[in-house]
Amino acid sequence: MLINNPTKKVDYTVRDLSNILKFREKKFITDLDVFNKRVLVRVDYNVPLDKNGKITDTRRIANTLPTLNYLLKEKSKIILISHLGRPNGKIVESLRMDPIHKKLKEFFPETNVYKIDDCIGKEVESKVSKLKNKEILLLENPRFHKEEKENDPKFAAKLAKLADVYVDDAFATAHRKQASTYGVCSFFKEKGYGFLVEKELKFLSSSIEKPQRPFTVILGGKKVKDKLGVIKNLIGLADNILIGGGMAYTFLLAKGYQIGKSVKDLSKLEEIRDYLRDETHGTRIFIPKDVLVCDEIENPKKIKIVPVTEIGENDIGVDIGPETIKIFNRILAESKQVVWNGPMGVFEKKEFENGTKEIARYLAESDIVTIIGGGDSAAAIEKFDYQDNMSFISTGGGASLEVMRGAPLPAIDCLSDK
Ligand code: 3PG
Repeated sequence: MLINNPTKKVDYTVRDLSNILKFREKKFITDLDVFNKRVLVRVDYNVPLDKNGKITDTRRIANTLPTLNYLLKEKSKIILISHLGRPNGKIVESLRMDPIHKKLKEFFPETNVYKIDDCIGKEVESKVSKLKNKEILLLENPRFHKEEKENDPKFAAKLAKLADVYVDDAFATAHRKQASTYGVCSFFKEKGYGFLVEKELKFLSSSIEKPQRPFTVILGGKKVKDKLGVIKNLIGLADNILIGGGMAYTFLLAKGYQIGKSVKDLSKLEEIRDYLRDETHGTRIFIPKDVLVCDEIENPKKIKIVPVTEIGENDIGVDIGPETIKIFNRILAESKQVVWNGPMGVFEKKEFENGTKEIARYLAESDIVTIIGGGDSAAAIEKFDYQDNMSFISTGGGASLEVMRGAPLPAIDCLSDK
């Protein structure tokens, strides 16, 4: 249901796009002299692994192929570095880069792709010195060293020692100020971004700079805090904001509804009320009219659809209901561009997937320009097999949110100016 009453049209001319557009001032890979050079490429191969260590989604690797192929064509010696998981400064066997090494060898059957069990030190330096043109060396997970996350300059200097040129193609980590994404930059004269970073920032920035209208933003997921930053930046820019998923319950609470045992963030109630009171920004905000509730998420015995006026004290909200799906799809039908970040419910469980699936299906079958933020939204689209029907799916969860929030991207800011 519509929960505010904007009194004017949206006006996006005043938007501050400086952070998101900064990449245009930076050197692109083709502006760098990489011919015959040792090139350190920061990628984000933080891919999901199953319990046998098998990669379950290779998109983050596949999307870096344009950069790697370009460097191979330029006869570079390629040194790849990426984190995997959060090992907290210790060696964690299951977070070694070996499964990624195996996958890279499959992607490049005719190229020598090596891997080494550390990312700094004498052995690594010796291996790099033997690397020939058009060969690839994958370094070990830098987060095995606590200095990586601390952005330690000595550690960054050791990484930088390995190469002549630095390329950042790790869009999904562009919001992290760590040694291999940020600190390392100060030691390179030649540093720029790769094809994946370009593709991501072009898509995401054009969706904000020149949105096709009507422009609708769909927000969901549990973390209200993360998404409020997006609302703050896109309110007055988007024509509509549709709110579903776990975050919707804090909005319902802010509007005075009982939400039972559903997830909530009480610290954000006032901020939400401010958005709802302000009628001058021009954006229509919609929250669910009905929801699916259950008694327990893991092993639900009772599941029912209720209007939001009838959520019981023991109910846990887990999905949007059929009326809400209809209303949301009606708004989508009027839209020319949609940016979607966060699922509409606990889509990982079959019983609670309907809302997310129906919205995804509607978008997949329409001509609407649809941009999917990474993370859970991307995982949901993959689960329902609609990935080929979306205009763009970001590889970055946190990073795409930061872009939508208008926040700086330290890993881009530190690259060479053109
Ligand atoms: C991600 O998956 O969002 C990126 O790889 C960043 O990972 P991090 O949140 O552990 O820094």
